[in-house]
Amino acid sequence: MMRRKVTIVGAGNVGGTTAQRLAEKDIADVVLVDLAVNMAKAKSLDILEAGPIYGYNARIVGTGDYEETVGSDVCVITAGIPRRPGMTRDQLLEVNTKVVASVARALGERSPKAVLLVVTNPLDAMTYLTYKVSGFPKERVMGMAGVLDASRFSAFVAMELGVSVENVQAMVIGGHVDMIPLPRYTKVAGIAVEELIKKERLDAVVRHTVEAGGEIVELLKTGSAYYAPSAAVVEMVEAILKDKKKILPATVLCQGEYGLRDIFIGVPAKLGVRGVEGIVELRLTEEEGVLLKKSAQVVKAQCETVDRLILQETK
Ligand code: NAI
Ligand code: 2OP
Repeated sequence: MMRRKVTIVGAGNVGGTTAQRLAEKDIADVVLVDLAVNMAKAKSLDILEAGPIYGYNARIVGTGDYEETVGSDVCVITAGIPRRPGMTRDQLLEVNTKVVASVARALGERSPKAVLLVVTNPLDAMTYLTYKVSGFPKERVMGMAGVLDASRFSAFVAMELGVSVENVQAMVIGGHVDMIPLPRYTKVAGIAVEELIKKERLDAVVRHTVEAGGEIVELLKTGSAYYAPSAAVVEMVEAILKDKKKILPATVLCQGEYGLRDIFIGVPAKLGVRGVEGIVELRLTEEEGVLLKKSAQVVKAQCETVDRLILQETK
């Protein structure tokens, strides 16, 4: 079988760790692109040099030149700046809009058949921006947030109950900024989590999930999380490359689903070789529906800012 090719733009914490995880799974060759060319080269060599120990043959290239990315199957966008302490995801909007717009254009021109997977924050707005500037069909543009948020939720549920993480299946929808963990759709060995954890404790677990990204920012001081985020990216990339038809929460374009239109937001989606191969519509309670609508309004406002910023750019 021909080796698959994954480009990662941004060779920082998330990008570098994603490259490492992909290499260790040996499921694709990796091109790591960064403005800091020597850093991309150094990390690529470093990962390559671990191959003999781990037994992977993945070819890893570090570069500043987009010509190396031609014909990628999946392109992961992590370029931009991460959230710093005291900084909201929204404050990232302006800086990262410029970065992601140029990256999405450069990738789209060279890999017109790729699936574009966005990681840069503010996630939902950056995914929308990538869709806009690439001109790609909606099936081939998605963002990563829900897999990370659900993994955090699962980890905390498993800790609370003292059971294996393998027993937990969690669901989180909505925008990454104000995500909506769904205990009703979270199961432990098939049992509704609400039957196993008392309400106040479950509320605390949900709160911990919502605050988990910020908790790491506060502790780390120099940046944000990257081990769990890169693991989440790789789960999505693997579902696409292996055409798994795996249902995962992903940031995808809703056109009527959940009563939402023209909006990228986190919902369960079926991921396969064609990208987003379907959206699963959960039956939400009125309260959950209200939270999703509210979250969609926040995302919409960010997308309006993005629209203004790209318009200024093209003037
Ligand atoms: P980082 O600062 O370690 O890496 C970002 C890299 O992007 C840097 O190496 C920088 O040189 C590069 N870069 C900046 N502008 C560029 C351009 N025009 N072209 C190519 N490369 C460029 O940051 P980290 O921790 O890797 O985070 C990356 C982004 O991912 C941030 O926006 C962060 O907020 C976001 N993030 C999103 C998550 C999610 O759930 N969606 C989870 C974790 C991080
Ligand atoms: C996180 O949730 C910063 O979005 C990033 O960790």
